[in-house]
Parts: sequence; structure tokens; C-alpha cells
Amino acid sequence: MDHNAPAFKPALQVAFQSALVHLETLENQPVPATASLSELRSRLAKPLNDHGLDPQEVVRDLVRDTQGGIVGSAGGRFFAWAVGGSVPAALAADWLTSAWDQNAGLYASSPSAAVAEEVAGVWLKDLLGIPASASFAFVSGCQMALLQERGWDVERNGLCGAPPIRVLASNRHGSVERAIRLLGIGEANVVDLELDDNARITPAVLSAALTAAPDAATIVLLQAGDLNSGSFDDYRAVIPVAKRHGSWVHVDGAFGLWAAASPRYRHFLDGVAEADSWATDGHKWLNVPYDSGYAFVIRPEAHRAAMSAGPRLCHLRCHPATGPPWDSGNDRPLLRARENACGRNRAIGWVGGALAASHQSGAGALPRPPAGSPRRGP
Ligand SMILES: Cc1ncc(COP(=O)(O)O)c(C=O)c1O
Repeated sequence: MDHNAPAFKPALQVAFQSALVHLETLENQPVPATASLSELRSRLAKPLNDHGLDPQEVVRDLVRDTQGGIVGSAGGRFFAWAVGGSVPAALAADWLTSAWDQNAGLYASSPSAAVAEEVAGVWLKDLLGIPASASFAFVSGCQMALLQERGWDVERNGLCGAPPIRVLASNRHGSVERAIRLLGIGEANVVDLELDDNARITPAVLSAALTAAPDAATIVLLQAGDLNSGSFDDYRAVIPVAKRHGSWVHVDGAFGLWAAASPRYRHFLDGVAEADSWATDGHKWLNVPYDSGYAFVIRPEAHRAAMSAGPRLCHLRCHPATGPPWDSGNDRPLLRARENACGRNRAIGWVGGALAASHQSGAGALPRPPAGSPRRGP
């Protein structure tokens, strides 16, 4: 590996120039792909060369061969899915993240990434109205505490042979199934509860479902600002019902948790802080590059127990204040940069302005999808 700095310069310069051309012409270029699948395949599917190429040639080739297949989703004329562009500070920090190439898994291997992570988590909790005592992570994974309470050591024993878990769901997104499969809970254990006319779970329906199987380990999955209906569950009414039955309450706040940043709209989230865990992401409202998702858990010890790397990794020096590595990743400096560039007031203005625009345009009053319609991805 040539770490001679001049060796990087030509390739980085081609990337820099190409990125600028892309961003500066985005608003005048066609939004959809203009190249066909066969064109892209024929350009990109070259035989693997026997000899290496100059780095700048590799980057130049990449730019040329992908032309017509880069969708203008980062621009203002893209109205398909909820994907967006990244703001300048986040994009620039993303480049630096690649250049620094940190193993951000623990303090010893990247002290600045560890501290940027701490700071980004604290700021996010502040903006989103999540209790300061909650833990945070940049991956999803909020389920483990439930089984511990049933006397099952899930860290040690896994889910095989564990008491069954069921998920009582409000209006849920298609990604929930994927998460449930990944966790090994199994889709068959998700129960879609009957919703009211505003696509919200009701205390009566939830109470009936919980009473019908009082011994089942249950996760109640609530919604904040569903993609299709915009619905927010009535947290004040339903969370106490779930808690009375010993359930774990998780809030999918991919879209709506950000309303907490707006004094005008945070009433939609009244009572949400009483949940046990929350998830949202940064690539929608915060406009950071993909991938960027956040989970918060009210019981840090349970979260830490599930996600820590354990003693075998701790031959590497752990900082006494940050402890063993857990839940770490490489995008914290960019997230911190994005939050910093935005600042509290701009975040509040941004979220509030966009929500107001969506109300005025009627987007907030879209009809509910017909019963039984497939759940959509982003
Ligand atoms: C309600 C809801 N939950 C979860 C997701 C998945 O979020 P991500 O794209 O961060 O994986 C989405 C995406 O649109 C969503 O709308």
C-alpha cells in the first residue's frame, strides 16, 4: 500500500472535480436514469484486468461508466422515495471519514471517533426529546432487555429455547419484518393490531391483546409519523397500558421522531419519552449521507450487555471512561459535523418548516392506504 501522500492526490482530485460537477449540475440534469440496464452492464462489466490501473484512471473510468445510471435523488426535483441529498458539512466530513479510515470500534483505535460519537448521541437525544439517561447506538438492536426480565440470559443462551416473543404492532413499516427476521424472532410472531381511523393503535385493542396472553414476552411497536399515513400513536394513552402488562415499548420514529425538534409540532410526540426504545435515522431529516440510523434504549445496562464486545477484545486498551467497545461505527465524525453545521435553531426551523409545508400542501391529509395493501419500503 502506497501511503506516499502525492500518490493519493491525482485520484482524489478527479473525485473532487467529478463530485463538484455532479452537485453543481444536479438541478439541470434529468432526474431518472437515462442509461439502460444493458448499457450500464456493458460499460461496467469489464473483464477483471490482470494488471492494476493508475488510481486516477480507476476513478475516471468509474465516473464515465456510471454516467446515466446515477439517479438525481440528491436534488430538489426528486419526488419518489424518501431519500435526499447530503448537506455540505456532512458530505465533506464523509470524505474525511474515508480518508481517516479509522477502526472506530473502540476508544484506543480512534479516540476522536469515540468522543465524536458520545457528543453526537447526546445532541441527538436533546433534539429528539429522548431522556438523557437513555443509551444510544448507531445500529438498531433494542430487544434484549425483555428476555432478561423473564429470567433468560439472552446474551449467553441466544434466542434458541427462549420464551417466545411476540410483537404487537401499530401501523408498521415494511422494514420491521426484516428486523424481526434478522433478530430471529420470526415474522409469525408479529401481530398487526386493528387500528382506528387515523391509523393508530387504541388502548382498548392493545389492552385486549395483552390480556389475552398475559404471560407472553411482548414488544409493543408504536409508530411516529408513518410514511404512508403520517400517523402518530397516542403515546400518553397506550404506553401506560403496555407498561401495566410488563411489555417493552419500541417507537419507530424514522420520520416522526424529528417533530420533537419543532416547538410547533412536538405535541405529536406527547408522552413518547415514556417508551423503552426509539429508532430513527439521519438520512431523511438530517441530510447526512447513507447509512445513518440511530437507536436509543432507556436501560443502558441492557443495551450495553447485548452489544459489548466482551473481555476477549479488551486486551486492546479500553479507556476507563468509555469502557469496552460496543455499538461503534465509522460515521460519527460526519454526524457530529452535520449536527454542528445545522445547529439547534436551524434544525428546529428546518423540521418545523417542512412539516408546515406538508400540512399546507395537503400531504399530511393523504388518504390511508386501503386495508391489506402491501407495506412499502422507503
Ligand atoms: C416508518 C419507517 N420506519 C423505518 C424505515 C426504514 O428506515 P431506514 O431507511 O433508515 O432503514 C422507514 C423508511 O422509510 C420508515 O418510513
